[in-house]
Amino acid sequence: MNQQKRVIWEPQPKQIEFMQRPEFEALYGGAAGGGKSDALLIEALRQVHIPHYRGIIFRDTVPQLEALISRSMFLYKSSNPKATYNANEKVWKFPSGARIFFGYMQRDDDRYNYQGKSYDFIGFDEVTHFSFLMYMYMFSRCRPTGETPGMKTRQYIRATCNPEGKGMGWVKERFVTAAKPNTTIWDKVTVLTPEGQRITLYRDRIFIPSTVFDNKKLQEADPNYLATLASLPEAEREALLYGSWDSFQGQVFREWKNDSDHYKDRRWTHVIEPFDIPLDWKIMRSLDWGYSKPFSVGWNAVDHEGKMYRIAEWYGCTGSPNVGLQIEPSQLAQGIKDMEEHNEFLKGRKIYHCVADPAIFEKSTGQSIADIMEKQRVYWNPGDNKRIPGKMQYHYRLAFDKYGDPMFQVFNTCKHFIRCIPLLIYSDKHPEDIDTDMEDHNYDEQRYAFMENPIAPRANVLTKIDLNDPLNQRTVEYNRFSHY
Ligand SMILES: Nc1ncnc2c1ncn2[C@@H]1O[C@H](COP(=O)(O)OP(=O)(O)O)[C@@H](O)[C@H]1O
Ligand SMILES: [Mg+2]
Repeated sequence: MNQQKRVIWEPQPKQIEFMQRPEFEALYGGAAGGGKSDALLIEALRQVHIPHYRGIIFRDTVPQLEALISRSMFLYKSSNPKATYNANEKVWKFPSGARIFFGYMQRDDDRYNYQGKSYDFIGFDEVTHFSFLMYMYMFSRCRPTGETPGMKTRQYIRATCNPEGKGMGWVKERFVTAAKPNTTIWDKVTVLTPEGQRITLYRDRIFIPSTVFDNKKLQEADPNYLATLASLPEAEREALLYGSWDSFQGQVFREWKNDSDHYKDRRWTHVIEPFDIPLDWKIMRSLDWGYSKPFSVGWNAVDHEGKMYRIAEWYGCTGSPNVGLQIEPSQLAQGIKDMEEHNEFLKGRKIYHCVADPAIFEKSTGQSIADIMEKQRVYWNPGDNKRIPGKMQYHYRLAFDKYGDPMFQVFNTCKHFIRCIPLLIYSDKHPEDIDTDMEDHNYDEQRYAFMENPIAPRANVLTKIDLNDPLNQRTVEYNRFSHY
């Protein structure tokens, strides 16, 4: 009998690429309208013929999740007419016994709702709205969920996103800058068994970019969508239409430039190649204390014009974003002394001024952190913690004059500062300030250093002329939004 098949959904070429990947983790998208959510929903269906299969798809909030669920009503019901959806439990039950759940995690603690659970397939839609902690926690839940004789399930993780959102930093680092798109990234993990045997294991992951140009179905169904994306303000357009990871909504330091072509001549870039610091320049040290979150220590050299150079740093993070080394104040003091003895730019130099997060002087538990460090002759003065003036000092110092010279530059060896500063975004609650849920420790520490040497407002010559403000009277405020 020649029965005609009714096609409900057919992957488009980029979706095929994503759905064929053998890697344990794959990230799909990086721009709006590329067919990400559809691809993720369909991917979750792949093993529903296996009775013990369990899949879960996450969004950050319930309303967002509802949009996915509503799309699943069509896709899942049309492809599996006997499947049923239970709205209370947010779960699809398939005739084989397989299940696909919908879950949300808004706060880090929400991850514990999944304690003790197991899933073969874990999907994160808009993964940049999740923290690294939530994402990594779910790795421990990705394991076989049972047994069906003769039928094995595959365990793997899939995610989609746009280049925006709080988690953009870790997602960018994990998938986008780690390797060229469409190439497998390998992590080597060494495990010591209780028997003392050392085993080396490997994990792989990949980023498959897609944009609205890869979604012909959407372009046919809604030609206006492209026009909508194209008419967004420049930064949003670059991110959502073209998938740029360097230009996104809410970035605080849009004037930040890291141009390796100019590391040597030090023009039009904030990151530069190290040089020998003249002996008569003063060197200062600043600290943002952290234990479970990273601490940050920075050393700045100040020239005769008051220009500051961040010449060295020690950032206390474990290698996982925003997770601290958990070292005690006395160890921190010792580490600082070691650094000042051995670092090529610091050894033999007098540190003329030291400022720290004023919280380290807090004596509520008896001895303050500053007291403990003082015993090892590492002294601090309380930094000025006025947040908005401190942030404005960043803008004034980052502004380029007509020769491309800013009042602050960073040695390219200060890797963590260079990684974190461009990722800072504005807070939803305090729109003038940065979002303090981000990795902001080196930002704070450098802010204390700036506030010891405040400078007057400077206009950025790279700022576009605002047609509503041809005389540039709002320059300082305008810098925030300019993208040159
Ligand atoms: N393979 C496909 N076949 C038909 N329609 C599709 C396909 N992929 C995506 N679409 C449709 O295109 C639109 C955008 O897709 P969606 O997955 O929501 O994109 P994104 O999540 O990347 O913004 C939706 O209406 C979706 O149903
Ligand atoms: Mg989507």
